[in-house]
Amino acid sequence: MKIFKIITLFPDFFQSPLKSGLLGKAIEKGLCHIECINLRQWGEGQYRQCDDYPYGGGSGMVLMPVPLLKAIESCKGDSKVLYPSPSGTVLNQDMVKELFHHDSFLFICGQYEGIDQRVINRYVDYEISIGDYVLSGGEYAALVIIDALCRYIPGFMSNPESLSDESFENYLLEYPQYTRPREIDGMCVPDILISGDHEKIRRWRLEKSIEKTRATRPDLYRLYIAKKDEVKQ
Ligand code: ADE
Repeated sequence: MKIFKIITLFPDFFQSPLKSGLLGKAIEKGLCHIECINLRQWGEGQYRQCDDYPYGGGSGMVLMPVPLLKAIESCKGDSKVLYPSPSGTVLNQDMVKELFHHDSFLFICGQYEGIDQRVINRYVDYEISIGDYVLSGGEYAALVIIDALCRYIPGFMSNPESLSDESFENYLLEYPQYTRPREIDGMCVPDILISGDHEKIRRWRLEKSIEKTRATRPDLYRLYIAKKDEVKQ
């Protein structure tokens, strides 16, 4: 059982994703447990303030350290602390696999200009970006990371074989997929996929994966070339 705790100012944000899709099913089956902790309960004063102006000036607000430290200390236990942030290490499939070795995770969802650096220094084990763009809150990124991790829980995927046969496994993007009908408006499924020759199909798919990766992700393609002899083809 994987445990995900999420410190957030917007616990309602997670309502629908936790009730629907594969994540909702996994929670129902007891494969994972997801708990939202409302940061506001540790806010200061009558309005339970959780953010303040940055020292040194500048635009935007920063999440205050005291409410965050109290929130973390109330629920951290043995969890690894993850802070989704555009300044973090950019997530990739290898990192997802490495993170999966842990059983319990505590996410800190920042808003505005982020969180006080002292909280990061004291508690954060992994500062993770989900890409080179800025989101309005860490909640979006937390959900992405949780979903990417849950896919490795046995019983989460209806077809676990697809885990080893998809984009980013072996440093290649996925080959094109087709399903019925065989032809629509003159667009046909490639004959080889109907040939029944599994070895030829495997080689064709590998070739298409290589072509696609070289064209759209030259960075990944270079890794593939470098690691080709180590990975399963
Ligand atoms: N918060 C805001 N932008 C983000 C990003 N790109 N990745 C993770 N957390 C974020």
